[in-house]
Amino acid sequence: MFLIIQRRQSLLTLVCAAILLAASTPAYAADDHNPYAGDASAAKAGEYEFRINCALCHGLGAHGGGRGPDLTRAQKRHVHSDAEMFQVISNGIPGTVMPANGTNGQGVGMTDEEIWQIITYIRSVEVKAPANAAGSAAHGKELFYGDANCSLCHMVEGKGGRLGPELTAVGGSRTKKAMIDSVRNPSRRLAWGLTEATKEFPQEYETITVVMADGKQVKGVALNEDNFSVQMMDGDEQIYLLEKDKLRSFQKSRESMMPTYSPNTLSDKDLEDIVAYLTSVGAK
Ligand code: HEC
Ligand code: HEC
Repeated sequence: MFLIIQRRQSLLTLVCAAILLAASTPAYAADDHNPYAGDASAAKAGEYEFRINCALCHGLGAHGGGRGPDLTRAQKRHVHSDAEMFQVISNGIPGTVMPANGTNGQGVGMTDEEIWQIITYIRSVEVKAPANAAGSAAHGKELFYGDANCSLCHMVEGKGGRLGPELTAVGGSRTKKAMIDSVRNPSRRLAWGLTEATKEFPQEYETITVVMADGKQVKGVALNEDNFSVQMMDGDEQIYLLEKDKLRSFQKSRESMMPTYSPNTLSDKDLEDIVAYLTSVGAK
């Protein structure tokens, strides 16, 4: 500004420039309300943006995918208002794989306008009332720690095994349908483990079978793997850190270490109760 004044540009030019500048950057500050709230064509544009930038993790239709929670749930964990959602989409959620705008292969990132359109889209697909929790959570808890043996491999609220993923939050991030599918068809979509700070994406729970130099065979889940080494946990929860070139054999498979529970082993009704239990814990 100072330089321009020295060049004796008229004050009027400056004022015009300032007005133009203000007009071309609308005040979509994050504490504003959504300028497109309820606008069906903005929701349509947002749906397109969502498919490109978000569906990879949050699933098509925002119903939740392998890496990100279902966003159609009325009750969300981090965000309530549109303004909070704007913050989360702009800045990501530190310590999780939820990326900040413009990172993680999102190219140059979305404009504020596009973010508001995505929010309008998410609001348009949200279920208005939380689904009635069908099933008995109390009975589900008994089964989880008892006859169904889930706690052999899964921890919920600090109690249980470690071979499979911790399930305290699963009810808050997976849909009911996805949880049922994990139990009926464990190998169809393997769960993702914890995110390592050095990795863009967490490791999948693939099954690894190795034969060590001394001939000992170990089978377990992959916790972490790179070109040279692998970290795995076997059924006794023993953790191994192995250098691949010291192994006699190394095999990886997408056959889950979790047994398939058919309706003969676990009835639909009992599974519904277990899902009700996980949902009640996840909603906390
Ligand atoms: C690389 C995967 C990934 C991508 C891409 C991604 N997200 Fe997320 N997102 C997550 C994860 C994981 C969480 C949950 C973090 C947690 O609570 O642990 C999350 C959380 C959220 C939340 C908060 C949900 C709540 O319950 O409060 C919103 C809103 C959200 N994402 C919107 C988006 C939008 C919109 C996009 C696209 C612009 C997007 N995300 C892209 C992984 C992703
Ligand atoms: C022998 C160990 C074992 C038992 C028993 C077991 N699981 Fe699993 N489970 C795993 C492993 C390993 C995974 C990760 C691989 C996969 O996704 O199948 C997993 C994955 C899951 C997932 C997916 C989690 C996610 O983040 O998407 C759910 C849900 C689940 N199990 C629920 C159950 C329930 C409910 C039971 C009891 C009815 C059960 N499991 C019994 C080992 C087990």
